[in-house]
Amino acid sequence: MAAQTFLKMLALAGSVSASTLYSTYNFNPLEHLAGIAPYFEPQDPSISPDAPQGCVAERAAYLVRHSAIYANDFDFKTYIEPFLEKLDNKTGIKWNRVPDLSFLDDWEAPVSDDEVSILTRVGRLEATRLGVDINFRYPYLRDPKRIWTSSAERTVKAAKSLVRGLQSDEETINVVEIPEGSESGADSLTPYKACPGYSGSTGSDESSKFQERYAKPLVARFNDLAPDFNFTINDVFGMQQLCGYETVIRGKSPFCDLDLFKSDDWLGWEYAEDVRYHYNVGYGNKISGPVGLPWLNATAELLLDNNAGKDAEDLYVSFTHRELPPMVVVAMGLFNNSEFSGANNINETMPLDRINYRRAWKSSNILPFLGNIAIERFNCTDAPGYDDDEYYRVLVNSAPQPLPGCSDGPGTMCSRDGFNEYLEERMSAFDEGFSDACGVEYDNSTDSLSIYTDKSVGNGTAVDKRYNAFQLE
Ligand SMILES: *[C@@H]1O[C@H](CO)[C@@H](O)[C@H](O)[C@H]1NC(C)=O
Ligand SMILES: *[C@@H]1O[C@H](CO)[C@@H](O)[C@H](O)[C@H]1NC(C)=O
Ligand SMILES: *[C@@H]1O[C@H](CO)[C@@H](O)[C@H](O)[C@H]1NC(C)=O
Ligand SMILES: *[C@@H]1O[C@H](CO)[C@@H](O)[C@H](O)[C@H]1NC(C)=O
Ligand SMILES: *[C@@H]1O[C@H](CO)[C@@H](O)[C@H](O)[C@H]1NC(C)=O
Ligand SMILES: *[C@@H]1O[C@H](CO)[C@@H](O)[C@H](O)[C@H]1NC(C)=O
Ligand SMILES: *[C@@H]1O[C@H](CO)[C@@H](O)[C@H](O)[C@H]1NC(C)=O
Ligand SMILES: *[C@@H]1O[C@H](CO)[C@@H](O)[C@H](O)[C@H]1NC(C)=O
Repeated sequence: MAAQTFLKMLALAGSVSASTLYSTYNFNPLEHLAGIAPYFEPQDPSISPDAPQGCVAERAAYLVRHSAIYANDFDFKTYIEPFLEKLDNKTGIKWNRVPDLSFLDDWEAPVSDDEVSILTRVGRLEATRLGVDINFRYPYLRDPKRIWTSSAERTVKAAKSLVRGLQSDEETINVVEIPEGSESGADSLTPYKACPGYSGSTGSDESSKFQERYAKPLVARFNDLAPDFNFTINDVFGMQQLCGYETVIRGKSPFCDLDLFKSDDWLGWEYAEDVRYHYNVGYGNKISGPVGLPWLNATAELLLDNNAGKDAEDLYVSFTHRELPPMVVVAMGLFNNSEFSGANNINETMPLDRINYRRAWKSSNILPFLGNIAIERFNCTDAPGYDDDEYYRVLVNSAPQPLPGCSDGPGTMCSRDGFNEYLEERMSAFDEGFSDACGVEYDNSTDSLSIYTDKSVGNGTAVDKRYNAFQLE
């Protein structure tokens, strides 16, 4: 009897260990949604964002993508709207009898044409929260007098939302709008719009190739379930997009259900987008570096400057769109798939017939909504084992990033001399300059960004205080 019980227990223990003991697998599709991921901090790599021991932040600069919007124009027109129209048209389908898709029976579209490109409530919340987080991270830095934003409604609103989280009751922070001109040269927060060599559709062909590869079984599966709908690759891709957009509009979405799309389906969707961004704004596009470099150069200048005048800030914050941060990432040499492999054809690190799971280039971790890059200057007077010195550190979505060729400080930091050398190397890697690399033909182009010091940019306008922040604007 006792032996039998023991055997039973053994069998039970065996089955437990095979299926659940140490099995901590979990998967959150919202962290694999590339450019439409709600803001999250991916801990990639998982280094603590706290100031290293004995170091105090003295200055910092942030480049921030705007936060969540209802839908991007291209995504809406290409994928979402056709899917929604088809849903409206195919009234004969009894969705309530279709497994996994039964929610479509009474599901209503979260977005219409009118709302495209507008910041959602979640978007405002995300940006305000970043303002609070920045204040927590640098309690000793003075509030900025101004922050900068490109002039689109969504970037301006995101900037204002951040100000509401950042500013104290006593101080006012102004928002300065920088026009998104097509002839600004490098002197704007949207320099790619003034770069004739950049096209927003670059990477679509490569991405489509992989879309076909990963979405084919999904199309087959859904057409088995609901043959009358005639699902296409674009429908499937759009449904997965709806997981992201509906979540930042309504707070949740049935399209994120892992019974509908499994983790493999999300990893496929994500990789298709990583391929797109690789060729569009990443290492697969040779103008990424030259377009991203002026922000790095101008910002490094502000942080390094020891004779800064009275207009200098402790904290610089600038808002832009999804294109610029990844281009700055390339200018900085971060998330480079070739860095340790030395592979000299970077495109081969992003094959189109299978996923490179071990890639460094994961757009979800680089450019989610509100994706941000920070450069920080520290004064280290008590860092064990290191000289008292000024050190520099880079964060991407709050995760510290080692700089290629510069690791002579505590943690991922780099000394003032090391940082200067690093900057020189990055500049010489893209020494052709913005205008030549972009093939600019208009007059008065410039290769550098001067909005932070140019007086003619002005002081911007104040933002309503928190207590009336949510009145209609
Ligand atoms: C929906 O139906 C309308 C009217 O029949 C048609 O013009 C339109 O092309 C259809 N749209 C789709 C996506 O099937
Ligand atoms: C299904 O959709 C494809 C692509 O839009 C189209 O070419 C095809 O004619 C459709 N088939 C049916 C049966 O509607
Ligand atoms: C990667 O592909 C792009 C687009 O085809 C091309 O312009 C670029 O030169 C390629 N990069 C390398 C290193 O081969
Ligand atoms: C990426 O890394 C490779 C290997 O270290 C290097 O040759 C290449 O210049 C890097 N690319 C950029 C844009 O920094
Ligand atoms: C660094 O901090 C120390 C101690 O607070 C201070 O004496 C020193 O002036 C600071 N250095 C700089 C460059 O601010
Ligand atoms: C270029 O700049 C000069 C000097 O600021 C100005 O006079 C001229 O009109 C500008 N040209 C164009 C085409 O904007
Ligand atoms: C870098 O910044 C300096 C100083 O602002 C400027 O003179 C130079 O043209 C800039 N170079 C680039 C490539 O941005
Ligand atoms: C901007 O503010 C500074 C003080 O912070 C002031 O000296 C300057 O005159 C202002 N400029 C404009 C254009 O209002």
